[in-house]
Amino acid sequence: MTAKYAVFGHPVAHSLSPRIHAAFARQEGVDLSYVAIEAAPEDFAAAIHAFGAVGGAGANITLPHKERVVALCSQLSDRARRAGAVNTIVRAGAAWHGDNTDGLGLVHDLTERHRLDLRGRRVLLLGAGGAARGVAPSLLDAGVDSLWIVNRSPEKADALSDALGEPGRVHTRYLADLPSLGGFELIVNATSAGRGDGLSLPFSLAAPRSLAVDLSYGEAAISFLAWAGAAGCVHRIDGLGMLVEQAAESFALWHGRRPATDAVYAELAARADALQTAD
Ligand code: ATR
Repeated sequence: MTAKYAVFGHPVAHSLSPRIHAAFARQEGVDLSYVAIEAAPEDFAAAIHAFGAVGGAGANITLPHKERVVALCSQLSDRARRAGAVNTIVRAGAAWHGDNTDGLGLVHDLTERHRLDLRGRRVLLLGAGGAARGVAPSLLDAGVDSLWIVNRSPEKADALSDALGEPGRVHTRYLADLPSLGGFELIVNATSAGRGDGLSLPFSLAAPRSLAVDLSYGEAAISFLAWAGAAGCVHRIDGLGMLVEQAAESFALWHGRRPATDAVYAELAARADALQTAD
């Protein structure tokens, strides 16, 4: 029987995950189906239950459910517990095991694909939702010097800082403090602001060797990366590479081997370029 996998989100229709997992499956000779399932917050628990009832073997969980799904998992990996967010669930008997591959995916993309050294960098993390939670533990593990978390709702930044449990390296500040924080060598946009009103960021956040990363890709990443260019950030990277790498880590959790990612990344990047040229 073909094993069933899915990505749950809201909205999820434009998710690239079905395409990525289908490509990995072809490459690795694995028989699977992987579909996108739209679930509004109030329907999410029932949708996961229904997926389990029809034999679902595993799923990715995306915006805005990464924190919500934690309560539906009977076990969590260490990294998912530290993040307080889950992006991958794996069937464990009648229950779900929750893990988070976002952070590993981001660090892999930056250090392996882009050959950037994260060690010793002063890091600004914009946002404290599921996406920010997923990457924060891995940034600390990658050896950054300090992590400054700034979120529109300050209590969520404080909650993330508490969960990370490294008061010496992790600091929280208000959005209004941004002009007085100085420069950062890595600025990560983990907000969903690019899909709405946008963020208002001062140029003083950019330092001489600043790397700016938006965890979104495509249209949602345009305004932050345009700001980063104007502010003088030397490297500007969207979340497409992270998306492919976190998918490879999820694939490894489900199927026991990590697929090579270069061909899938190249295909998606070429397609994104073609779309932008067509615009
Ligand atoms: P995700 O799973 O992508 O993190 P989320 O949990 O809904 O989704 O979190 C979205 C993040 O973007 C939050 O940090 C949110 O700030 P709040 O916690 O204050 O809601 C942030 N965000 C969304 N729109 C924003 C805006 N216009 N300005 C600043 N921050 C914004």
